[in-house]
Amino acid sequence: MKTQGLANRLTEYGDREFALYLRRSFAKSMGFSDEALDKPIVGVLNTYSELNNCHRGFPELAEAVKRGVWQAGGLPLEFPAISLGEVFLHPTSMMYRNLLSMDVEAMLRAQPLDAVVLMGGCDKTLPALLMGAASAGLPAIILAAGPMLAGSYQGERLGACTDCRRFWGKYRRGEIDRPTIDHVEGQLAPTAGTCGVMGTASTMACLIEALGMMLPGGASVPAVYADRLRHGELSGKQAVELARTGLTPDQIMTEAAFENALRVLQAIGGSTNAIIHLTAMAGRLGIRLDLQALDDVSEDTPVLVALKPSGEYYMEDFHRAGGMPVVLHELKPKLHLDVMTVTGETLGGWLSDDYRWPDWQSVIRPVDDPLREKGAQVVPRGNLAPDGAILKRSAASPHLLNATGRAVVFTSLADLSARIDDPNLDVRPDDFLVLQNAGPVGAPGMPESGYLPIPRKLTGVKDMVRISDARMSGTAFGTIILHVSPEAAVGGPLSLVRDGDLIELSVDRRELNLLVDEEELARRRAEQPPPAAPPARGYERLFHRSVQQAHLGMDFDFLRHESLQDEL
Ligand code: FES
Repeated sequence: MKTQGLANRLTEYGDREFALYLRRSFAKSMGFSDEALDKPIVGVLNTYSELNNCHRGFPELAEAVKRGVWQAGGLPLEFPAISLGEVFLHPTSMMYRNLLSMDVEAMLRAQPLDAVVLMGGCDKTLPALLMGAASAGLPAIILAAGPMLAGSYQGERLGACTDCRRFWGKYRRGEIDRPTIDHVEGQLAPTAGTCGVMGTASTMACLIEALGMMLPGGASVPAVYADRLRHGELSGKQAVELARTGLTPDQIMTEAAFENALRVLQAIGGSTNAIIHLTAMAGRLGIRLDLQALDDVSEDTPVLVALKPSGEYYMEDFHRAGGMPVVLHELKPKLHLDVMTVTGETLGGWLSDDYRWPDWQSVIRPVDDPLREKGAQVVPRGNLAPDGAILKRSAASPHLLNATGRAVVFTSLADLSARIDDPNLDVRPDDFLVLQNAGPVGAPGMPESGYLPIPRKLTGVKDMVRISDARMSGTAFGTIILHVSPEAAVGGPLSLVRDGDLIELSVDRRELNLLVDEEELARRRAEQPPPAAPPARGYERLFHRSVQQAHLGMDFDFLRHESLQDEL
């Protein structure tokens, strides 16, 4: 395919020749020669920000990408996009995933690019980059930040953020004192890179490698290894190849590729957030992912990867054990192997038959000796969640998976933080904690608040059934039912739960039911207060007006592919 270079997407003056002459003259003000300006242009989209610790290594990594682009005969041009640092955004980074995707789509459609390297890593950035690139239809390759290395405390390894929560739980239970938690605070995130467990960032990197949008091995090379720079260089080179062949994301991210990703999500014990992101990414291409498909592959896919929170290892161990190529090789008989990848080969093409574990089979288990026989996530439904909910059973307590409990209800995040530690709270260890109004519209932005803390008065209790319309960090563990859809704030049945109601959870039957008769529910429905007024202006107003429910990926209605508009 002939690349267009600077002649791509000319500024409109009503005179194309003039527009190109003007553009070249301004490009020359940056010191480029004619020879440089005649090359295919590869954008290097850099989500570096000083408000994003995970992307701290990006300035050096971007230089490596550019080196690769030059080597392959392209002209690299770096440009910024907004950055989403997970813990630096209020009320939650999820509020801004769609905003970043719009930034990406608009700039890829507007600028003179033949291909682009998309640099991201922290939780919401990778899905946002691919949502934007999918809609823009430009050849693209993902370059992830890479994971952090683990820290340590008294000889024990620590990693963000499973251990953040574990130590905070100890502190809340009075098992460690303030100086200890202060010391641990400095050890949880010791290097640049994304959280070093199988949280959302690692999950999305692994899934994107499985989807074929990243070069093999790219999900797990630690951010601070020299290999990360070599991977960046290679990604730059490959982007020039993509510019020449014109291979676009829709030719790679097909329905079969998303089926592979759902299976890999189970096998790696990945984050529950990933299902929302995959649904949104697929939705940009007119592919409908449904929660039932996730549940189906879960029954048929073993968990192979023993990373926290499902196991005991960290991403640096996963890398040493061979990373995604080993996982994909183990799953080979269950994968669609004819799907195309950014390598220019099919998945089956680059996965050789004689693959060996480089190291350490306890981190990535063989299929005939898995960590768990069945997949990580299940989808309960019922009168409490007509459009489904998610439970990560690989991180749950087995004795709570089939249980009935009394509801202890918190009507909002403010109510939760005001009362959860009240010594007078009427709560027992076998109760179900319920949080309402923490979904896409209600919170807003569906924060990662589904990991409700255990009430302080229940000393020694490590897990309880917790139910909400919120999300949960992929790094957390517990018997936690999330993404209840439709959410309470739009009148979903979750809004009808009251203190003392009985709720039945049956993971075996995939059911989640509120055991209250229909007459009483109708009475409660009639007494519901009117919905809160929407925000008056700005992005918050757009978000409130356009965000879809969790089971549809929380994308904006006007960004989903036109072929899926019937579901709105
Ligand atoms: Fe960026 Fe965890 S805070 S990946």
